[in-house]
Amino acid sequence: MKVLFATSEAHPLIKTGGLADVSGSLPKALKALKNQVRIILPAYRAVLDKVADKSPKHIARVEVGGCGRHYQADVLEVKAKSFPSLGVPIWLVDIPELFDRPGNPYLAQDGTDWWDNGERFAVFSKVVAEIAMGRVGVKWQPDVVHTNDWQTGLVNALLSLEQDRPRTVFTIHNMAYPGNYPESLFAQLELPWSLWHMNGVEFWGHFSMLKSGLIYADRITTVSPTYAKEICLNEYAYGFEGILQERSQKGHLIGILNGIDDQVWNPEVDEFIAHQYSVEKGRVSAKKKNKAKLLEEFSILNHVNEEEVSANFDRWLEAPLFGFVGRLVWQKGVDVVLEALPNLLKHTDANFIFVGSGEKYFEEKLMEYSQHYPKRIWTYIGYSEKLGHEVEAGADMFLMPSRFEPCGLNQLYSLAYGTPPIVNFTGGLADSVIPATSENLANHLATGFVFYEPAAYAFEEAVHSALALFAKKRTWQKLQKIGMQQSFDWRNSAQQYLKVYQGEES
Ligand code: ADP
Ligand code: GLC
Repeated sequence: MKVLFATSEAHPLIKTGGLADVSGSLPKALKALKNQVRIILPAYRAVLDKVADKSPKHIARVEVGGCGRHYQADVLEVKAKSFPSLGVPIWLVDIPELFDRPGNPYLAQDGTDWWDNGERFAVFSKVVAEIAMGRVGVKWQPDVVHTNDWQTGLVNALLSLEQDRPRTVFTIHNMAYPGNYPESLFAQLELPWSLWHMNGVEFWGHFSMLKSGLIYADRITTVSPTYAKEICLNEYAYGFEGILQERSQKGHLIGILNGIDDQVWNPEVDEFIAHQYSVEKGRVSAKKKNKAKLLEEFSILNHVNEEEVSANFDRWLEAPLFGFVGRLVWQKGVDVVLEALPNLLKHTDANFIFVGSGEKYFEEKLMEYSQHYPKRIWTYIGYSEKLGHEVEAGADMFLMPSRFEPCGLNQLYSLAYGTPPIVNFTGGLADSVIPATSENLANHLATGFVFYEPAAYAFEEAVHSALALFAKKRTWQKLQKIGMQQSFDWRNSAQQYLKVYQGEES
């Protein structure tokens, strides 16, 4: 099959979160199953910088209407071999007025949304739809257009109006971002009014690009079986539960767990970590050396003075170390950790490393904690791919107390790196971590620690049971080993996507 994979981020070209990891690895897995895949992505400035020396080829020019003006979109092709970890050709939609900007795909430098995000991604979606219909002179027409999250939701509505069109599949990575804009944006974009009604893109008087995917895609998928059920409930669906229940009853909503790219997130080949290891080879000693490196790096990053470091280092190395990497937002339960920290500092000898960026309040609170407890809590505010890998390899346990988590990738990485995760029972966390109950431990099934309410008391209890097990070295090593032996490679999930593409999902 020919698959056009439309996304707003893809690792290693541009990444703000898990969508980039998925877009950077699922297409390659589909290709391995003998399909032709093209990734299509906006040509942000950061992406153009990355491909500048790869001689991108101009393959098409599309005239496209924005808000009260017209743009010329140049489509550039970057060869598959230029980015082996992506493994498929990349098509970049170059509209300098919309995408040639510094930094993040969604945020201006002051941390607020770009003022014209609605126009930016609607225009990108118009270009994707034109290409998908084969109207721009590119001699490659997809059988399936796979869109992801609200940024590409509009593609589905536009294609629904066409005859002889490719099949459309829309993946929900996160319902929390609806891509809602005023009706005036819809009007200014001169979109067909036949789409504007309550069973169309209109959502309580607003133009919702998420809804455009939910209503008009031939099939909807989401990134774990549990999240597929959760989003049919009002607690998780932000008003879209009715549509999702209906589509689910028809068999049109399918949960497929994300996989991980074992060329990128694999302690055996990970180039970001100083000491590589595998489940059979060097695991215990390499993890300890990686932990030492992590502690050294973080004491420098947090300006702990050298005398303090040498006086405490041996103790740090022996004490349990918890890691956290992620967006600092309510979804991730950062406040749950913050609330539990005083008790955990008082009643345990555990230390903590945080890597993240997001809401200012959480960033400041974490920095405050590290300044108050420079011998127990270390924080890096910002985005660092390298530190993300190093925390997975060097921490003893990984914290993921998310309130909701469509799939979550860090718990999968933690399992692969022998760093048992502590997770709230929701979404993909519930589908991938097997709790260390005595029964599961006895049956050699347990892989991590699960709590059942995103509240500080429940989280603290889980941390205490993790610490109790951490003290029993042999049982702990067995837990690590079983986690590392779990298979989350993309093959199985890619096969499920193929069935959805072919309409044979049930
Ligand atoms: P989400 O997509 O909701 O942010 P996921 O767990 O699916 O959550 O994926 C997050 C991805 O982004 C992981 O690869 C994680 O390591 C990475 N990540 C998030 N924040 C940071 C950060 N501040 N520094 C480095 N990597 C980060
Ligand atoms: C979203 C979700 C996360 C998921 C990722 C990739 O950002 O928050 O749970 O793993 O998308 O699908």
